[in-house]
Amino acid sequence: IPVDPFDLVIFGGTGDLARRKILPALFRRFCAGQMQEGTRIIGAARAEMDDVDYRAFVAEALIEFNDGHGCEEGTIAAFQRILSYVTLDALGENGWADLAAKMHDGRVRAFYFSVGPSLFGALAEKLHEHGMADSDTRIVVEKPFGRDLSTAKALNRALADHFDEGQIYRIDHYLGKETVQNLMAIRFGNMLFEPLWNSQYVDHIQITVAETVGVGGRGEYYDRSGAMRDMVQNHLMQLLCLIAMEPPAKFEPDSVRDEKLKVIRALDEVLPDQIVRGQYLAEGDKPGYLDHVETTDSTTESFIALKVHISNWRWAGTPFYLRTGKRLKARSSEIAVVFKATPHSIFGPEAGRHRNILTIRLQPNEGIDLDVTIKEPGPGGMRLIDVPLDMTFTEALGPDAEDVADAYERLIMDVVRGNQTLFMRGDEVEAAWAWTDPIIAGWETRGDDPIAYESGSSGPEEALALMHRDGRKWREVRA
Ligand code: BG6
Repeated sequence: IPVDPFDLVIFGGTGDLARRKILPALFRRFCAGQMQEGTRIIGAARAEMDDVDYRAFVAEALIEFNDGHGCEEGTIAAFQRILSYVTLDALGENGWADLAAKMHDGRVRAFYFSVGPSLFGALAEKLHEHGMADSDTRIVVEKPFGRDLSTAKALNRALADHFDEGQIYRIDHYLGKETVQNLMAIRFGNMLFEPLWNSQYVDHIQITVAETVGVGGRGEYYDRSGAMRDMVQNHLMQLLCLIAMEPPAKFEPDSVRDEKLKVIRALDEVLPDQIVRGQYLAEGDKPGYLDHVETTDSTTESFIALKVHISNWRWAGTPFYLRTGKRLKARSSEIAVVFKATPHSIFGPEAGRHRNILTIRLQPNEGIDLDVTIKEPGPGGMRLIDVPLDMTFTEALGPDAEDVADAYERLIMDVVRGNQTLFMRGDEVEAAWAWTDPIIAGWETRGDDPIAYESGSSGPEEALALMHRDGRKWREVRA
């Protein structure tokens, strides 16, 4: 469905995120016919360029990063016509009057802060000074939203000086993923699961986000963050919230976000023996973690596994095991809900070991499967085996299921439509940092070193032990 013409300004319009994600996403929505005549996309950055240069710059980025997705010949040229550029200095006066002169009144205007968080406050201030911070304005901010509770609070305050919470769209791109939204559909669109979704029936839940990539050229940023700040505080936390939250009354922004916030606030502090941190080693000609960063004795983790408890009525007693890491065996993100054994096994004690496991595969090979216990076929008596009821979305729904909008496409259009459901609210981000801070402070004060792990493995052995000692085991990391 086309949306009314809007103006979108990308601060950092020549940056890496703009090239790789934002512009290709906008282009695909343009190709899908969602942008009406009159929509304008304005790149803004320090580089000296004019509209013609910027259009050429964007065309190059599209050729490099869009993989030719569903767009016909000639559409790049049509898309270029809605692009323009302003040379602008976030901290000085240069360019602001030009930008203000370009704005139309009475239409949605969104400013995408695709810049480091140190500039968020300055940009908000300038928009206000130049009369662009009115009620039609929305701002979009990227992670990292701070590096701890106090910096996140400071950012929230700086934005709140000029914008209401309803105008601020904090992106966590995991929330824009099709399958992540499917978590809510699976839980709240079916009668089957919700009655069992609690500590009475669920033994434990595992959340794995495994990557094969290393930190590559992002060493400088990554070394200051580590897996806890880069992945757990935001992406895994969002997955945990969607899996653990109470049913919201409505699929509406504050209904959903209130429930997520309650989960974060109910998280217990994680004790040191329930955390395993790792750092990947070099493999053949592939560099190790320490080759990417400046400090050769860096203790930043590129892998983390932790056991988390949610102290509330629904989950007391059911642990959540989270892990994420770089340079692992396969790119694979999934959530496994492992149910308890039946209360009594009529087939004898051996049979009592079987478990139903609901696995939600987030990427790649999106789908769900449910391990069900059945009789092993044949005359050998009542021997039980577990078989998966397997649904791969592309098989069940046809090739259209493959052609879904990517996270950025959906999220940017939600900004334009004014729907904040898939964006983080300020209090949510602060609560997540409030939980993360003491964990990080703990290993910093103790001077814990991460454990070296082989590239291409499932992470350090100690992470396996984290579950073994509870009589449980991780699902295998496989694509
Ligand atoms: C980003 C992290 O937010 O998410 C990266 O900064 C990580 O380190 C990426 O690789 C993972 O996203 P995706 O969509 O590839 O799972």
